[in-house]
Amino acid sequence: MRKALFVLTGMKRIFDGRPLHAQLVVTYECNLTCEYCHEFTHGAPMVPYEVLRRRVDTLADLGASAFDLLGGEPLLHPDIVRLVRHTKQTRRGVNLVSIITNAFKLTPELIDGFNDAGLDCMQVSVDTVDPTPGLPKSLRSVVPRLRMLADRARFPVKIQTVLTEESWRQYAEFRTLLAPFDFEFGFSLLHDADGKIGVQGKRFAELLDRHELFPGMAFFRKNAAEMLVGDFSRPWKCTGGFKYLYVNADGRTQYCSQVPGGQHQVEDLTLEDLRRADTHKPCEAGCAMGCVRTISHALASPVSALGPTAEILGDFMRRRTPRAELPPAPRVEPPPASRSTGDVIPTTD
Ligand SMILES: C[S@@+](CC[C@H](N)C(=O)[O-])C[C@H]1O[C@@H](n2cnc3c(N)ncnc32)[C@H](O)[C@@H]1O
Ligand code: SF4
Ligand code: SF4
Repeated sequence: MRKALFVLTGMKRIFDGRPLHAQLVVTYECNLTCEYCHEFTHGAPMVPYEVLRRRVDTLADLGASAFDLLGGEPLLHPDIVRLVRHTKQTRRGVNLVSIITNAFKLTPELIDGFNDAGLDCMQVSVDTVDPTPGLPKSLRSVVPRLRMLADRARFPVKIQTVLTEESWRQYAEFRTLLAPFDFEFGFSLLHDADGKIGVQGKRFAELLDRHELFPGMAFFRKNAAEMLVGDFSRPWKCTGGFKYLYVNADGRTQYCSQVPGGQHQVEDLTLEDLRRADTHKPCEAGCAMGCVRTISHALASPVSALGPTAEILGDFMRRRTPRAELPPAPRVEPPPASRSTGDVIPTTD
């Protein structure tokens, strides 16, 4: 029933002037430093829970029904479970709520809290097998947290990898090590500080083709393959600031995490403001912002998007059965001595 109502909302959003997807920053503080990231500030404050709650309510009242809570690192926020619970209660539960996290701070208590709060999905960002100072999100660092998720989580877990030279090189081994887990897999195309694609080469498109990935990218796979060989000519229309909203820690909306266009304080946002953002953006050619592209392409061609949309919803609505008996843990050997000095390579502890 919930699924049917959610699909109905999605169909309404094709035609109406309301937003569908909102990404909400709960803090820009982060426990890591990824060399490619422009979305964190060490020492940034936590946005107070009551402020976040009001932002969620405003977004839900405007029509948003898919929410991603992110940062910075959202698990650093002391009220993150409470916020998931509240977000799940909006729109009479006809919504999808995800967390995007590096998982370093995950604990059994947090997972149980998210189960109880009704979290729909956890996207865990992991890039490589071995950490380097610039790419700390590695299997070697988070595998105990992934086992914890496999053991306890009742929500689906998606492993998201940023496509870079290094992740490309390690990806076959990465997938082999994760094969025993019932997780799903996807990629973000590396983007620069303006949202433009930051990797080039046919080998990247071949990697995307070779691996079974969760269906979100199906919406713009052809565009991605073309962009990876330097062809940015296929037209599309960005719905950032309209169907997709990024709400920064100050509570201002942006077109996306990289482009601070269409800024309004979320509490003051009107349908007229949204309508004004329904326009082509100068940065569309070569844009690698996966979330915005997924929503924009899906709403632009609803018929061809029906298959992947149904698949995505099916995944989201599926509750995992935590496994009492886990398959053998992937063998991630201790780091070589030269890399084991915990001061440059953070671990989950
Ligand atoms: C900004 S992070 C915030 C959540 C959390 N700290 C994490 O890393 O998952 C959200 C997502 O953006 C991805 N990301 C960050 N910088 C990126 C970049 N330059 N290109 C592509 N994806 C990027 C991260 O890997 C992560 O999946
Ligand atoms: S963990 Fe996430 S927010 Fe932190 S630096 Fe890495 S990508 Fe950015
Ligand atoms: S086209 Fe849209 S999503 Fe892409 S960088 Fe520009 S504003 Fe952001």
